[in-house]
Amino acid sequence: MTVVPGTQKSRLDPEPLPRRDWLGLASLWSAGSAMIFAVLGSLRLPKAAIVAAPSKGFDVTLPESLRIGEAFVPPNRAVAVYRDTEGVYAISTICTHLGCVVKPTAEGFECPCHGSRFQPDGGVARGPAPRPLAWLKVSGKDGIFHIDEGKTVPTGTKVKA
Ligand code: FES
Repeated sequence: MTVVPGTQKSRLDPEPLPRRDWLGLASLWSAGSAMIFAVLGSLRLPKAAIVAAPSKGFDVTLPESLRIGEAFVPPNRAVAVYRDTEGVYAISTICTHLGCVVKPTAEGFECPCHGSRFQPDGGVARGPAPRPLAWLKVSGKDGIFHIDEGKTVPTGTKVKA
């Protein structure tokens, strides 16, 4: 047997890696790097935003010029506030049919969506609204009234002005 000079294998040369082992290592390396990138990517995801629900309570000062039976609708609120000789009260302007905002009128309330009408105390005068408008909790001190849109009270509940 002739040995070509320079091609003889030394005992110190590393064994060549068998192809099967090389593919196994490559797949392990791929899986490992995919896991690392997945973890890094998940750390960069936007965090869930926790949005506080808007407060359902707010303070209102009734204008001095507000006449008895006249509605005061605070800006950006679905509430009509009234003052009469017995006190102050608030009626929700959310229609009990499908939730449109009703408009206070001289005769009570009118829903622009499907035509329901409500009496001045919120009672249903004409459907399709199934229930009267809700009266809301009012508390007051020194002419400033706190109205809670999240708490209803029995119809006719008023707070001294
Ligand atoms: S939402 Fe008011 S009548 Fe339908």
